Amino acid sequence: MKKLVAILVIVGLAGAAAGWILTVPRTLSKMQIADLPAGDPVNGELLFWAGGCASCHAAPGAKGDDKLLLGGGLKLETPFGVFVAPNISSDQEDGIGSWSKVDFANAMLTGTSPQGSHLYPAFPYTSYARMTLSDVTDLYAFMTFLPSVSGKAAAHELGFPFNIRRGLGLWKLLNLSSEPVVSAPAAGSDVDPDLWQRGRYLVEGPGHCGECHTPRDLMGGLDMSRWMS
Ligand code: HEC
Ligand code: HEC
Repeated sequence: MKKLVAILVIVGLAGAAAGWILTVPRTLSKMQIADLPAGDPVNGELLFWAGGCASCHAAPGAKGDDKLLLGGGLKLETPFGVFVAPNISSDQEDGIGSWSKVDFANAMLTGTSPQGSHLYPAFPYTSYARMTLSDVTDLYAFMTFLPSVSGKAAAHELGFPFNIRRGLGLWKLLNLSSEPVVSAPAAGSDVDPDLWQRGRYLVEGPGHCGECHTPRDLMGGLDMSRWMS
């Protein structure tokens, strides 16, 4: 009996340790960071609009230049609770003005915050993870020119267990991939391959079309077998 208990305890601890390791927030590799380009704000503006950042991070209903004021506040109701888009303006205290290029690239491509915790995929990094490093740094360069907006957005309203960010580690293992979804058309078809690649990139990466046009499973992951259906 004592032996059985001991075995169960060991198995339990091993399971907990494996779970802890599996849920570690991942970040970009040293090599990827060393490759980060300087960032071109002109191309960055294009990605800002393609990525729809303002549709969540500007004040709800903002028009014209007010779409460049990224103080957050939009509420996203989901089966897991209410997420509130945060302030991502250039404000040093309340926004992301103090974030480095690497911090920003990690958030966009790995869904990990500068503090090393998982971000919620209500921020559609599951699509942005398919963006190129150079487009992400261009976007960063553009966003540094946007006005600073003071004031933090409200906190998310999430119950247990969804309020535990660490738990997202497993979810990300299952749902986060930087691989393209749709495979290229067979050689000999009459589509221009460059145009096709560009279109796929915009749809699956910055445009994050699949986040709304693909049904989700019970855990909130995209059901890839019904992509865009
Ligand atoms: C569908 C709504 C939505 C869209 C579109 C969106 N975001 Fe977000 N974003 C969120 C939410 C919600 C969070 C909060 C995530 C969390 O707390 O873990 C967030 C978090 C972030 C963060 C982390 C901020 C912090 O303080 O931790 C950054 C950076 C960010 N978004 C940048 C962007 C950029 C850049 C774009 C456009 C390319 C974008 N977001 C598009 C909803 C969105
Ligand atoms: C935030 C969620 C969201 C995102 C992201 C999104 N869509 Fe949509 N889309 C919708 C909704 C909701 C409708 C229905 C609008 C209506 O009926 O007025 C729609 C409608 C459409 C339609 C019209 C379909 C029809 O049968 O009338 C097309 C085409 C479309 N979206 C393409 C795209 C593309 C391409 C992207 C990516 C660049 C995209 N959508 C991203 C939510 C989204």
